[in-house]
Amino acid sequence: MSAVPGVGSATGPLPKVAWGRGSYLYDTTGKQYIDGSGGPAVYCLGHGHPEVNAAITEQLGRVAHGYRYIFTSDPLEELSAHILRSCDGAFRHLVYVSGGSEAVESCLKIALQYWSAVGEPSRRRFIARKRSWHGNTLGALSVSEFAERQRPFEGSLLPVSHVSAANAYRPPEGVEPADLAEYLSAELEAEILRLGPERVAAFIFEPVVGAAGGVVPAPPGYAQKVRALCDKYGLLLIADEVMCGSGRCGTWRALAFDGVVPDIMSIAKGLAGGYLPLGAALYSARVGEPIITAHGGVFTGHTFSGHTAACAAGLAVQKIVERDGLLARVRDKGEAFRAALGEALAPIEEVGDVRGRGFFIGIELVQDRAGKQPFPPDRRLFQAVSVAAMELGLICYPCSGNVDGQSGDTVILAPPYNASDAELEEILEKQKAAIERALAVTR
Ligand SMILES: Cc1ncc(COP(=O)(O)O)c(C=O)c1O
Repeated sequence: MSAVPGVGSATGPLPKVAWGRGSYLYDTTGKQYIDGSGGPAVYCLGHGHPEVNAAITEQLGRVAHGYRYIFTSDPLEELSAHILRSCDGAFRHLVYVSGGSEAVESCLKIALQYWSAVGEPSRRRFIARKRSWHGNTLGALSVSEFAERQRPFEGSLLPVSHVSAANAYRPPEGVEPADLAEYLSAELEAEILRLGPERVAAFIFEPVVGAAGGVVPAPPGYAQKVRALCDKYGLLLIADEVMCGSGRCGTWRALAFDGVVPDIMSIAKGLAGGYLPLGAALYSARVGEPIITAHGGVFTGHTFSGHTAACAAGLAVQKIVERDGLLARVRDKGEAFRAALGEALAPIEEVGDVRGRGFFIGIELVQDRAGKQPFPPDRRLFQAVSVAAMELGLICYPCSGNVDGQSGDTVILAPPYNASDAELEEILEKQKAAIERALAVTR
């Protein structure tokens, strides 16, 4: 346990991580944890992968970092080609960053710069969705809707319109799940018209919502309708795939599942699998060419953009994902794992929903299954799940506030893409036990 003041969490002092191998982590007392959520949906190849470590070490032996305005490098160029190929030609350009918030921030800035470049600088407004999380920098925080994290910064956030979440388990009142996509599309169109399309820069959304919703895939047809509206009114479409992308949902781009191509897209977590910090903002030829013509390039990026060792890590991770056919594994095993989890948790009356796509699964806990009533927030059930899971040697990702920003308890599972069948079974068993224990101790 940490003795450093301020290093801990709401549930008490944190254990000290010592080392990891594959799907397992070990703390300094020797306790073993199976990583059922890849931390916060990051560690797509698990821990200590010898080939990734060797690629990083080899790069460090040459040079750690060639600054982007002085040098390019083999890892940077190869990784860029790999990413653009994995996106099936959807994008022509990219700028590297060090994480998800920077990636989203870059996406927002690229959209604004595009509208300046094409002579429509009045397009400054973003439309986003309720119950979504896009990051902690001021722009990314502005487009998020996470009241607790935004409140202390009110007054300095960008003005943003937030339309309803695309959540079939919790549709807006009076809306049937079958009508949800149509309802949401009409709501978005009304907001574009209310603002005036000539003032709107872009619509940003998570194709599969992560922490703010507890893994919420949009209803069928939703992404196509949103794309069509953006085209109709000339808005840019930004997909935030920081959590759901880079293969997590079984396709390299999460939105490929819907057959939809955004204009701009953020990626991070699974890109380098947590071996080194790395993210990127990708943008299409339509967006990039006017910017290059008007300004010479995008005015975003940082000192560590395209950090050479980070790109070497990302390249090694992505090569392994491709070589070992891990996206097909995520697609196939993900569905079976979700079904098995749903079956195992069905006897627990407080499990309201088990949902997701690929190796990105959300469990929602409710007071009663029929009424979907959430638990009172002061019961802190999500925290109790976290504590119970850690006691049992499971890392999962419990989240709160998915219902209204305060109430709602969900648990995210996001195992490594290469987790074995036996490891998936262990995650399932321990997750079930952790939920049962958390319910018992908070009753
Ligand atoms: C969808 C999404 N976007 C952006 C972010 C911010 O990423 P980071 O924490 O790496 O800055 C996150 C983080 O959880 C996320 O889930």
